[in-house]
Amino acid sequence: MRGGGFLHSLIAGTGHFFPPFVLTNAMLEQMVDTSDEWIVQRTGVRSRHIAKDMGPADMAENAARAALEQAGSPACDMIVVSTSSPDLYYPSIACRLGARLGIHSAFCFDLSAACTGFLQAFDIAGRAIQTGGAGTALVVAAEKLSSVTDYTDRATCVLFGDAAAAFVLQGSEERHVLASYMASRNDGWESLYAHVGQYTVMNGQEVYKFATSAMPEAIEKVLERAGKKIGDVRWIIPHQANTRIIKSVMQKFDLPGEKVMITLDRTGNTSSATIPCILDEMNRGGKLQKGDLILMVAFGAGLTYGAVLYEW
Ligand code: ACO
Repeated sequence: MRGGGFLHSLIAGTGHFFPPFVLTNAMLEQMVDTSDEWIVQRTGVRSRHIAKDMGPADMAENAARAALEQAGSPACDMIVVSTSSPDLYYPSIACRLGARLGIHSAFCFDLSAACTGFLQAFDIAGRAIQTGGAGTALVVAAEKLSSVTDYTDRATCVLFGDAAAAFVLQGSEERHVLASYMASRNDGWESLYAHVGQYTVMNGQEVYKFATSAMPEAIEKVLERAGKKIGDVRWIIPHQANTRIIKSVMQKFDLPGEKVMITLDRTGNTSSATIPCILDEMNRGGKLQKGDLILMVAFGAGLTYGAVLYEW
């Protein structure tokens, strides 16, 4: 069943999954020339989950089942999976996830926009619902960054972790997605990439400079499009790459700490899964009140960046 052409879409269910194995800074001290002190001071990360014997589709299935159950197990006719760490060239994780979930005739594809990928997928799925292209969409981030991380390279292996998260989107009479803004600075792509079958190569300082200018730009643009001010926003969920990057954004907008979610100390950077993992934790933890404005903002390889302003 395709959608009835609702003008708006809403988040009807959320879910997330972290694999059980936890890689601590103390363990990394035994693997590369680093220290807990350096990692915490420069990045804020203390531990991260690693999917030892699971693939991205396994994690995606766990997150998707949780989101679907919360949404009342609706039939889905669209599955979009954001991933920067797929395990097969083809078919997509989305098609294989559909098979696992018994969803056999949906419009399925994977989307590659690194850490910005989930927000792009959310934006596209919402537009499909709004134009009648889909009735219910399953939007997933499935990231096994450990599969593209070199655990002899101290500059990158301390940063990343594995996770999956999912939203179920449905048509709505009321407006919830107030605005979105998606962009890229493609001339900077060589700051962060991974060749097929090889490990992540990163110029950390270039990515840092990009992040601290791109996130404020995305915040300003999405607020402008929605006709809102930063003071109207109840929660900011920034991409979780580095506490220093998030704090620099907080300083630029004079944001109080209680509005800005930071969980990377226990997850590391799980690429496009960071934002939906946090939203699900907040949702299940009863933190979100009807009417709360939630600003989600991300940056990543590409170099891509973007933001979505959502009214809960
Ligand atoms: N332990 C100890 N020392 C280290 C480590 C480590 N794990 N890693 C690097 N160093 C050393 C370097 O070798 C360097 O030594 P030197 O001065 O003797 O040459 C020194 O620490 C400083 O290195 P910098 O790279 O200048 O450190 P910086 O303060 O820039 O922090 C970091 C590095 C944390 C990577 C930072 O640049 C950053 O977070 N950048 C953004 C990265 C990012 O967000 N990437 C993900 C993007 S999202 C996506 O799409 C996947």
